[in-house]
Amino acid sequence: MSGLESEVAAVALPREELLASLYEMAKPQPRYRELLADHGLVQTEAVAFSFDRENTQFVLRNHDLFSSRVEMHLGNVRPLIPLNVDPPGHSKYRKLLDPMFAPRRMEAQEGDLTKRANKLIDAFIDRGECNFTEDFAELFPSMVFLGLLGLPEDELPMFLRMRNGILHPEKIDPNAYGDFDVIAQVRKAMGQEIYEYFGDLVDRRRLEPGDDIITRFLDADVDGDKLSKEDILDIMFLFVIAGLDTVSDSLTCFFAYLATHPNHRRQIAQDPAIIPSAVEELLRWETPVPSGVPRVATRDVTLPKGQKIAAGCPVSVSYGAADVEQEAFGDPFEVRFDREDNPHIAFGAGVHRCLGSHLARRELRITLREWHRRIPDYGLKPGHEELEYPPGLRHVKDLMLSW
Ligand code: HEM
Repeated sequence: MSGLESEVAAVALPREELLASLYEMAKPQPRYRELLADHGLVQTEAVAFSFDRENTQFVLRNHDLFSSRVEMHLGNVRPLIPLNVDPPGHSKYRKLLDPMFAPRRMEAQEGDLTKRANKLIDAFIDRGECNFTEDFAELFPSMVFLGLLGLPEDELPMFLRMRNGILHPEKIDPNAYGDFDVIAQVRKAMGQEIYEYFGDLVDRRRLEPGDDIITRFLDADVDGDKLSKEDILDIMFLFVIAGLDTVSDSLTCFFAYLATHPNHRRQIAQDPAIIPSAVEELLRWETPVPSGVPRVATRDVTLPKGQKIAAGCPVSVSYGAADVEQEAFGDPFEVRFDREDNPHIAFGAGVHRCLGSHLARRELRITLREWHRRIPDYGLKPGHEELEYPPGLRHVKDLMLSW
């Protein structure tokens, strides 16, 4: 496809203390309420944070005013596709990718996903306890991706390594904890490994096509355009980031909630038919991806609520705050699995709305269904009631469950 220009806006990363003051990871909802009451926009010299739902939707829906061509600092050497591409180029990529992740395609994965979820549960069910984060949540989405890529399970350690190298560099080098230079080094090295790993896979699939997404990328054609090898690598780099941790993190947030709210847990165990709406409500309440990739104002802009954003200023939007907004939900601080109208934006909004939402929903629903079918009665393991939500995407470290 038409090569990407490589320039992207170099956005300064928000300081960690600032993020910590805005995002309360363990119980973010009360903090969102305060920020929403306080005009819903926090501006520093370098960056603006939007908490107000209307402003947030405006930023996400007006891609001509707010570009997502920003530097990600994730070890990638080119923009990620399609996240760092603005329309019209973006529309071409989505036209090609959307059918591959459409609901019907994902429905066809039902049997494979169910088998994989049960295989993981088999490994610990007789123990009466598990580290849910390590024994299930971190493994399941990577195993699902191995299936989509037509790769054997012995590639799993490599997948976990790639994911950790970019998103949890301290797991690769303990010195990376809180040290931005070491983080950058780990990510740079891992970025190279990711390009090489998927580069080899593309070459192999070109020689021996299979029933997998790389083969489909190679065959895909939009208006006469084909994906180049670099395009495929830039898509796969994004998948490692966007498709693995997000589901793992959601699972840990969901199970931490259910383990500490027995009434909600019982509703799912007793009536599996509510699982689809329970998944939507837990996505809304937990909003595991609390904020999006910053968008950079392409000119001076006045937001719907009247605040001014100068050209070149990055704006980071909070999906989490938008998901507890009074007007949109009526009773946003109640977690109700029978909520009928649930316009949450946990998957984002506008043209960059999550490509993998149908896959993610299926992974989340299957896990809730299979887990509660086999382990309906569980809670936090005694002695492990203190839950740790580290910075980054919302997730629970070492969620210890017992039954
Ligand atoms: C519960 C799990 C997930 C959540 C909460 C989630 C959330 C999001 C959000 C909020 C965005 C918008 C980012 C932005 O506009 O800045 C996004 C985009 C994206 N997600 Fe997901 N995601 C999940 C799972 C997945 C999965 C399984 C895949 C695998 C295919 C995936 C692939 C993508 C891609 C490729 C984009 C960029 C789309 C574009 O730029 O057009 N996501 N996701």
